[in-house]
Amino acid sequence: MATQKPLTIALSKGRILKETLPLLEAAGIHMLEDPEKSRKLIFDTNRPDVKIIIIRATDVPPYVQYGAADLGVAGKDVLMEHGGAGIYEPLDLHIARCKLMVAAPKDAAPIHGRIRVATKFVDITRRYYASKGQQADVIKLYGAMELAPIVGLADRIVDVVDTGNTLRANGLEPTELIAHISSRLVVNQASMKTRHQEIQQIIDLLADAVAAKVQGESA
Ligand code: ATP
Ligand code: PRP
Repeated sequence: MATQKPLTIALSKGRILKETLPLLEAAGIHMLEDPEKSRKLIFDTNRPDVKIIIIRATDVPPYVQYGAADLGVAGKDVLMEHGGAGIYEPLDLHIARCKLMVAAPKDAAPIHGRIRVATKFVDITRRYYASKGQQADVIKLYGAMELAPIVGLADRIVDVVDTGNTLRANGLEPTELIAHISSRLVVNQASMKTRHQEIQQIIDLLADAVAAKVQGESA
């Protein structure tokens, strides 16, 4: 009988990886080498039936949507922007918590007419301004959004905010909350059906790890 291919979990470098690894450890899955010290993109774990791939945060939803990864971890911001096609989102991991916000130059006057907004979250931003009934020209940027209002590229930005330090350092302030954000475990919808038992076991183990961590934080 042919052995089934390993389950693949898609993670992204940086804070998601840092905060997800302890949860995976608590669920009995650990990586066999340190991904921060390797140029590899695909990693073995202590479980022969589980592999981890490391990709850009924004690439996690398409990998999971098309089944190249069975599971993944992605920020709610990235998932909202992707739209969620082909993906289940069974578990809030309560990590990488931040807020998706509109920000403006400090003490800027309100703009009631057409507004120009720079962001990497183009669809979320279009939907947000459409829901307010305000016309918005949305400019797609890939980083350093905070610069856009300073140099006159945009009136506002939409970005994630945690401490607010990045906004303050650039003379900006948050003005409107769009969504509370945390990272979510995501699952390919077809894998969830065809490999239900294996995937549900990982979801359950991670749910216990998250509950223990959240309990520890609030104690
Ligand atoms: P990429 O490199 O692909 O552009 P990124 O730089 O957004 O991705 P990270 O900075 O690691 O990648 O962010 C991953 C996720 O962590 C984001 O999608 C968001 O949900 C969350 N996040 C981003 N910035 C913060 C922050 N300052 N504090 C807490 N969580 C954050
Ligand atoms: C994120 C985000 C903001 C900043 C917000 O950047 O893009 O710039 O964090 O956090 P704060 O409110 O605590 O300042 P990150 O640190 O991920 O750098 P990057 O955009 O270069 O990935």
